[in-house]
Amino acid sequence: MKIGILGSGLMGGKLGILFTRAGHDVVFSYARSDEKLQRLANEAKGKARAGTPGDAARDADAVLLAVHWLRMDEVLEQAGDLSGKVVINCSLPMNADDTALVIGHTSSGAEALSQKIRGAKIVSAFGTVPSEVFPEVFKARRKAERPGMVYCGDDQSAKHVAATLIKDVGFEPVDAGPLRMARYMEPFALLMGQLAYEGDGGPEIAYRFERFA
Ligand SMILES: NC(=O)c1ccc[n+]([C@@H]2O[C@H](COP(=O)([O-])OP(=O)(O)OC[C@H]3O[C@@H](n4cnc5c(N)ncnc54)[C@H](OP(=O)(O)O)[C@@H]3O)[C@@H](O)[C@H]2O)c1
Repeated sequence: MKIGILGSGLMGGKLGILFTRAGHDVVFSYARSDEKLQRLANEAKGKARAGTPGDAARDADAVLLAVHWLRMDEVLEQAGDLSGKVVINCSLPMNADDTALVIGHTSSGAEALSQKIRGAKIVSAFGTVPSEVFPEVFKARRKAERPGMVYCGDDQSAKHVAATLIKDVGFEPVDAGPLRMARYMEPFALLMGQLAYEGDGGPEIAYRFERFA
């Protein structure tokens, strides 16, 4: 395929190289210097070249959008007409300092509860897997690779309790950080639920996180 990379930073640069090595025809565009784009094209070898966003989009079978959300309008304007094109977006709608999603979730059920139940040490946990998986995971908990389960909260001692309980039902606790991370965990829970109940395989779905670096 002809793939246009709009935003040749960490994501766009690396994916573009991998796409090229997989045999695709890649145009790297949108970086602060043309030299960088050329360097990426050289590094990718194969059928990769540097170009403008317009070059990347023109004739592309798919474009990868990989810019900061704040730069989205600019890069789209430079790309030109994308109607009818496959647009693969990996850009997350984050604010300028990448501390919050600017579209969608600015709070969460868990945070709302922490306002409602004053003084309580709220931890968000267990919601991100369907309940049906608990007995099976418990049975298999001695296996080396247990599924993960994310949890978050502001109070360390409360989180320690939650982590213990997560282990007790056979999961590996994955600390997602402060309670505000529930803004992201709750939609993730919906995704897991949707996959479990709408998929062919029934509700038996759990997940595991791996750190690559
Ligand atoms: N990095 C990740 O692991 C990751 C994971 C999931 C999602 N994402 C999302 O993917 C998107 C891209 O992330 P990223 O980490 O790849 O960002 P990045 O490394 O900052 O890449 C953004 C690209 O935009 C270019 N750029 C920035 N300002 C520019 C300007 N004024 N004029 C021209 N080009 C400009 C940068 O140029 P330079 O190359 O010259 O700096 C870079 O090539 C973000 O929305 C992020 O939320 C990233």
